[in-house]
Amino acid sequence: MPNKFIKPIIVGNWKMNGLKSSIDELVKLIDLCSKNTKFDVVIAPPYTLLHSFNDLIKKNESLLKLGAQDCHHIASGSHTGSVSGEMIKDSNAQYVILGHSERRIQHKETNELVSKKAHAAQLLKLNTIICVGESLEDRSNGNHKEVIGRQLADSLPNGFTNKNTIVAYEPIWAIGSNNSASKEEINQMHKFIASFLLKYSKENYSLPIIYGGSVTQFNAKEIINIDYVNGLLVGGASLKADSFFGIIDAI
Ligand code: PGA
Repeated sequence: MPNKFIKPIIVGNWKMNGLKSSIDELVKLIDLCSKNTKFDVVIAPPYTLLHSFNDLIKKNESLLKLGAQDCHHIASGSHTGSVSGEMIKDSNAQYVILGHSERRIQHKETNELVSKKAHAAQLLKLNTIICVGESLEDRSNGNHKEVIGRQLADSLPNGFTNKNTIVAYEPIWAIGSNNSASKEEINQMHKFIASFLLKYSKENYSLPIIYGGSVTQFNAKEIINIDYVNGLLVGGASLKADSFFGIIDAI
């Protein structure tokens, strides 16, 4: 049975984009989203903007939620340039994206490291959005399900629950490509992930599974209506309030 009873969640991942002046986009988004109660909307700006975004969200009593794009697996110490889960909590963010393919590829993050980070974040009661996704090569070779199964088995930390974990399926070849995965590809993989989780840990069958990879206001509705899709992880189209809200409005 598709787990469609979960409240959909739309996450905007700003990646390494956004300056102080980008607060204008948040002002607009808060205004546009003021009537939305159907979805949880999370915005994940770079670390440098977390505190100012939180201040604005609080001041406006907005329902928008705040997320970070990564965290270290250790609470504090000699790790130059890193940001811990505690620091993210300190900004009032409630979510953290982990294991994004850009971190896995550009920073050589392994499944094991993603699992450690997720464990640390969950101890702090942060909601973890754990990303998995296959390369074009994996898909062309027909290894995509095996790759995703391995990523899930090794990236999900012990003791995860459907209250603190969201799985984001983001095929690497669809990210930033203007070419999202097809309806069939998304349906097949989300169904596979749902059944994998069912076998892997029975009580976690209802883990939300969200899709990311070239989501826009033009394809969002079709994607969110696919069985086993509980939300969207949006990169490029989340940078501007109008296009991000276009997605929310479309669905
Ligand atoms: P995109 O990015 O929407 O720009 O394809 C998605 C992501 O990487 O999370």
